[in-house]
Amino acid sequence: MSTHAAPRRRVTLADLAAKKRAGEPLVMVTAYDHPGAQIAEAAGVDLVLVGDSAAMTVLGYDSTVPITVDEMLVLTRAVRRGLDAPLLVGDLPFGSYEASDALALATAQRFVKEAGVDLVKIERGGTSVARARALVDAGIPVVGHVGLTPQSVAALGGYRAQGRTAEAAIAVIDDAIALQNAGCSLLVVEAVPSPVTAAIVDRVDFPVIGIGAGASADGQVLVFHDLLGIYDGPAARFVKRYAHLRDAAIDGVAAYAREVRSGAYPAPEHGYTMADAEEQRLRELLDRR
Ligand code: KIV
Repeated sequence: MSTHAAPRRRVTLADLAAKKRAGEPLVMVTAYDHPGAQIAEAAGVDLVLVGDSAAMTVLGYDSTVPITVDEMLVLTRAVRRGLDAPLLVGDLPFGSYEASDALALATAQRFVKEAGVDLVKIERGGTSVARARALVDAGIPVVGHVGLTPQSVAALGGYRAQGRTAEAAIAVIDDAIALQNAGCSLLVVEAVPSPVTAAIVDRVDFPVIGIGAGASADGQVLVFHDLLGIYDGPAARFVKRYAHLRDAAIDGVAAYAREVRSGAYPAPEHGYTMADAEEQRLRELLDRR
């Protein structure tokens, strides 16, 4: 397998803080399997998130809500095996942390012990602030996630930008500050107007990673399948497609199907040979039957 980058040393939280201080943008991407992790590694990103967006991108659910801890762990372990330098973030799925600090800790510990994540991500402010504090107190680094929080899609009334009124923006900013005060190491801010992101970045010290949150964030995250054009259908306005892998994949499978049907594949070079003497002996053995 070809890679484009020499092996790098492991990224640390201190590296992220140093990049933020230096004004060097942080790059995060999601991944859900071993080849995806290897691609992210070779591309030289800083962080890889095994997002619960896996529910939709790879498991075919219609929201992130149904995915289970066990499903997330299978995917996260596969990513861990393909990753070396970037920090690995595991997304705690809906229903696996909200009810109590004890539940959050038990779930987060599974992600650390069974899947080797460096950090876990939880969504929302509110009760998630206490959950974040409990995880940090137990020695597990936490990524907060505010703005559009897809696990609360029903409560938010759909996948829509958040913080578009001054009061709603203040609520998002207050959640961000509360998560920093709870000890979070990083923050994801999703689908908020740029001035809201700028106000957060002005008021917190930890790195802020945006998705649909404008250019003032300290870094950006995109979903692997969105940025590579792996699936069909409409994408959020903040998605930029850097490749069209679905079209390339359909073309490839269609060409294979054509060649199987025409007899062009497999050609002699795709098969295995047998020494003439062995072939002769095989004929004799078959004739004797
Ligand atoms: O699940 C996910 O992929 C995410 C990113 C969009 C930040 O939470």
